[in-house]
Amino acid sequence: MKITIAIDGYSSCGKSTLAKTLASRLGYAYVDSGAMYRAVTLYCMRNGLIKNGKFDTAKVIAVLDDIHLTFVYNPATKASDTYLNGENVEKPIRQMDVSEQVSKIAVVKEVRDKMFRIQRKLGKDKGVVMDGRDIGTHIFPHAELKIFMTADTNVRTQRRLDELSAKGYTVSFDEVKKNLEERDYEDSHRKESPLRKADDAVVLDNTELDKEEQLEFVLRLAKQLSA
Ligand code: DC
Repeated sequence: MKITIAIDGYSSCGKSTLAKTLASRLGYAYVDSGAMYRAVTLYCMRNGLIKNGKFDTAKVIAVLDDIHLTFVYNPATKASDTYLNGENVEKPIRQMDVSEQVSKIAVVKEVRDKMFRIQRKLGKDKGVVMDGRDIGTHIFPHAELKIFMTADTNVRTQRRLDELSAKGYTVSFDEVKKNLEERDYEDSHRKESPLRKADDAVVLDNTELDKEEQLEFVLRLAKQLSA
C-alpha cells in the first residue's frame, strides 16, 4: 500500500536530501515544496516587486495568477526540476538572494493558499514524499508518516556553507548562519501555517547521524507503515 510521507523541519537540516533518496528507494514521487516558495519569490524579485527587502503584499497577490509552476522529472538528479513560466529555475532559486527574501513571501496567506492547492494535487494519489515546513500540519495532516527534522545550528550552517561553496558561491559562515536563524524564526512565528512539529510526527535529530543512518531510520518506519 502506498502511503504519504511528510518531512518538515528547520532550514538546511537535510530534508531534501533525505526526502529525495527515500522517494527513490520507495519508487515514490518527491516534491520539494520550498522550491515553489522560492520560485514565487524569484518571480517577485525579477519583476521589481521586492526592493531592499520590502514588498507590497497587494502587488504580490495581484501577480499570483501570472505565476505558473510546473515540475519536470530530471533523470540526472532523480528529482523534478521547478519551472517558472516555462523556464527551468532550479539554479537561481537556490541562490542566497532568494534565500534572504523567501520567508517574507511565505507569510502571505494568498501565496500559501496557492501553494496548498498545487501541493494537495501533487499528493492526491499518495506514494509521495513531500518536504517543507507545514506538510504534516497543514498540507497532509493525515499523512501516514510524518518526520520532523532538526539539527544543531552550527552543523546546519556548515552543511549549507559546504553546499554553496561546492556550487561556487562565496559566502561567510556568519552570513549563512544569520540567514538560517532568521528563516527559522520567521518560519516558526508566522501566523499562517507556521513551522511546528505535528503531534504525531517522529523527531529526527540528525546532528550526529550520517545520510545512510537517517535513510535507514525513515525507511524502516515507511516499510512498517506501508506493509
Ligand atoms: O526548504 P527551503 O529552505 O527551500 O524553503 C524555502 C523557504 O520557503 C523557507 O524558508 C520557508 C518557506 N517554506 C514554507 O513556508 N513552507 C513550506 N512548506 C516550504 C517552504
